[in-house]
Amino acid sequence: MKALILSGGQGTRLRPLTHTIAKQLVPVAGKPILWYVLNHIAQAKIKEAGVIISPETGQHVKDYIMDGAQWGLKPRFIVQKKPEGLAHAVLTARNFLKNDDFVMYLGDNLLSEGVKSAIDRFKKKKSEALIFLKRVDDPKRFGVARLDAEGKVVELIEKPENPPSNFALVGVYIFTNKIFDAIARIKPSRRGELEITDAIQELINMGHAVDSQVLDGWWLDTGKKDDLLEANTIVLDEYVKCDIAGEVDKLSRIIGRVTIEAGTVVINSHMRGPIKIGKNARIENSFIGPHTSIGDGAAIKDSAIEHSVILSDSVIEGIERLEDSLIGRNARVFKNMHRHKALRLMISDDTVVEV
Ligand code: DAU
Repeated sequence: MKALILSGGQGTRLRPLTHTIAKQLVPVAGKPILWYVLNHIAQAKIKEAGVIISPETGQHVKDYIMDGAQWGLKPRFIVQKKPEGLAHAVLTARNFLKNDDFVMYLGDNLLSEGVKSAIDRFKKKKSEALIFLKRVDDPKRFGVARLDAEGKVVELIEKPENPPSNFALVGVYIFTNKIFDAIARIKPSRRGELEITDAIQELINMGHAVDSQVLDGWWLDTGKKDDLLEANTIVLDEYVKCDIAGEVDKLSRIIGRVTIEAGTVVINSHMRGPIKIGKNARIENSFIGPHTSIGDGAAIKDSAIEHSVILSDSVIEGIERLEDSLIGRNARVFKNMHRHKALRLMISDDTVVEV
């Protein structure tokens, strides 16, 4: 069994962050989404992983994974020149995948469970594909499955106008090499992409067995800002520990599970977990509320922040209340002390500011 991790694409829905960072490297609870993906692959004892990268952000992904030793993996980086669809990414990896079975994992999907037991099920059932389904409130955003009375998948439709059910296709799939025969028979969709959803439908049309499993645990597609904040909330709730390696002065109060990494200084501040703070940050005269992640080297002064993700080296100063926010690297948000009340902004393309 090999793994194919999809870390290409353009990440348009997470702009402006994705102008300078690959979507799959945006941190959730202090770790890039890709870290969670690679951990699941490693837990399943898979050693060979193909990683689809784009010409624009591929170097960042390579620099992050390096030789894969951290996960006991041997990565093969495969450049997909244009994001022409998930099935196109599979075709691009043909030389790497050869005729082996493989787990395909979308690099922006976060799952509570790993893939090990699914692989065992796939091997026992001897089907040509195993897909995962999860009930969602807004199926139009996903691939959607129609099931028969016995729960067998009979139809799959990518982002349907009128979803036949609320079972979304999760971004983790297991395939045999029959998927290549199916991809050879499909055409680009309305959005101009070779869809993996259409290829799986084609497997069904060809009479092959497609097994499906409904996920018990949580699943998040971190496509947009609010999805990312939700992912941050859930992962902090589940994993963050009380672990304080930084320095906290006597005037500060820490309640609940808070991780503060080495080199970080906390002065006269109040924190209520779950919170994750990286290395070499500085928190001064501030309140940090639940479900907040703060990156390495960030500085928070005279501010209150809750339910937000602040990336590395950013500065937040004099802000009475910052909530539900996603702040990129090296950004500055501060209160102007002039009497003339005006907003003064220098913001990048595709930024959203809510005043
Ligand atoms: O998250 C689950 C959904 O993922 C499924 O329900 C849909 O059926 C499936 O089509 C996919 O939909 P998205 O529109 O969310 O896919 P997205 O374009 O965001 O791409 C998913 C990941 O794959 C992302 O990490 C970027 C990468 N990618 C994407 C494309 C189109 C590539 O590496 N190459 C590509 O050509």
